[in-house]
Amino acid sequence: MPIPKNLQKEEIGLLSQAFQTFNEATTKLEESYQKLEKRVESLNLELEEKNEELEKNLREKENVKNYLHDILESLPTGVVVIDPTGKITTVNKTAGEIVGLLPGKALGKTFEKIFDLKETPSLPLSQLLSPDSGRQYIEIKFSNQLNAELDLSISSSTMKSPLNGNLEKTLIIQDITEVKRLEEKLERNNRLTAMGEMAAGIAHELRNPLGSIELFTSLLKRDLTEKPQMRQTLDHITNGVKKMDRIISGLLVFTRSPKPNTRRYNLHEILDEVLLFNDLLIRKNEVKLVKNYHCRDPFGAGDADLLNQVFTNFIVNAVQAMPQGGELTLSTIESSESESSSVEGQQNSWNGQLMLTISDTGLGIPAHIKSKIFNPFFTTKDHGTGLGLAIVHSTVKAHNGSIEFESLEGKGTSFTITLPAWQS
Ligand SMILES: Nc1ncnc2c1ncn2[C@@H]1O[C@H](COP(=O)(O)OP(=O)(O)OP(=O)(O)O)[C@@H](O)[C@H]1O
Ligand SMILES: [Mg+2]
Repeated sequence: MPIPKNLQKEEIGLLSQAFQTFNEATTKLEESYQKLEKRVESLNLELEEKNEELEKNLREKENVKNYLHDILESLPTGVVVIDPTGKITTVNKTAGEIVGLLPGKALGKTFEKIFDLKETPSLPLSQLLSPDSGRQYIEIKFSNQLNAELDLSISSSTMKSPLNGNLEKTLIIQDITEVKRLEEKLERNNRLTAMGEMAAGIAHELRNPLGSIELFTSLLKRDLTEKPQMRQTLDHITNGVKKMDRIISGLLVFTRSPKPNTRRYNLHEILDEVLLFNDLLIRKNEVKLVKNYHCRDPFGAGDADLLNQVFTNFIVNAVQAMPQGGELTLSTIESSESESSSVEGQQNSWNGQLMLTISDTGLGIPAHIKSKIFNPFFTTKDHGTGLGLAIVHSTVKAHNGSIEFESLEGKGTSFTITLPAWQS
């Protein structure tokens, strides 16, 4: 059936209107699409910029982290961090070296497990390590995993962990072994000087009355030719007086610090003389002798007679410390370090030195008497005067030399004597 004409027109009008609307909508859609595209483009750009910024930030953070880590690792002091359960969470390189462990091996262990203390510390460890205790400071003696005995100072402070907010303890650890050693030497020197002054006074005061006793005893003895029993009693007095006189003479040697008659001497020759003189004692005690004479130029500047006495004292002490036999080792070496040539606080201008180490495998010196062995009259022997090392100390000091020693109870003792070499 044919469509009426008027209807056809109407429909075409509507259709073209619809078409126009469609066209307009398409144009708008296209415009919106373009706008959207632009927006996406700018958003992409923004995102890229943000990503770059983020990456830069991350790199910077990583750099700062590495930088802080490098600082921590290059610090000459040990740093250890302990969590609230007492476990170690951070150990830097120096702390690892002090403890004698690779830092990784100390992680997760407790402080007490790593630090084998030799003495009870002045502050209980629980207080040092408690996160509530704030800043603390202690000095301890400890034996590390490589069996080295060290003096340490530990300062502790509390900080909040940035990771979990827990209170952690940061320990700053410093090896003060060398400082302590120098302090002890200085203290020994001061103590012996004070003792020397007092002893000199006493010795001087005793000499006169002793002289009188000796004189009157000999007069009495002369008058008692008829009474042999009484003469015998007087002999006991004379012997006692003689012994006292010997002690006083020794004391005076120590106090007067004999002025060395400085000449060129051969260290090896003096040592061999001392060994020859004490050959019987050495052999009687079944002591094996080891000579490690390594000085190519064994010439020193000093008083051969006084040094002979010094070495005799050390060697006799060493042999006496080995009643069941053992090994006596004499080692010599040249050294040119100027640092160790200073005698207990004094500087001197020598730079060449001779170093002699006298080691025994004897009884060793118990830790609690180590600071006393150079004191005059300190002896652990039934018949010792305790003047040997006191005299040795003042003679070596008069030579601008120094003495160091190491001893382990039950293992043995090593004395190292440093003396100025002959400057040709
Ligand atoms: N090599 C050693 N091994 C172990 N202990 C030692 C050694 N050398 C010294 N001592 C200790 O130091 C103390 C003091 O020594 P020092 O030589 O001054 O006196 P002494 O040997 O006891 O007496 P004297 O020297 O008059 O015979 C000794 O009694 C001993 O306890
Ligand atoms: Mg002695």
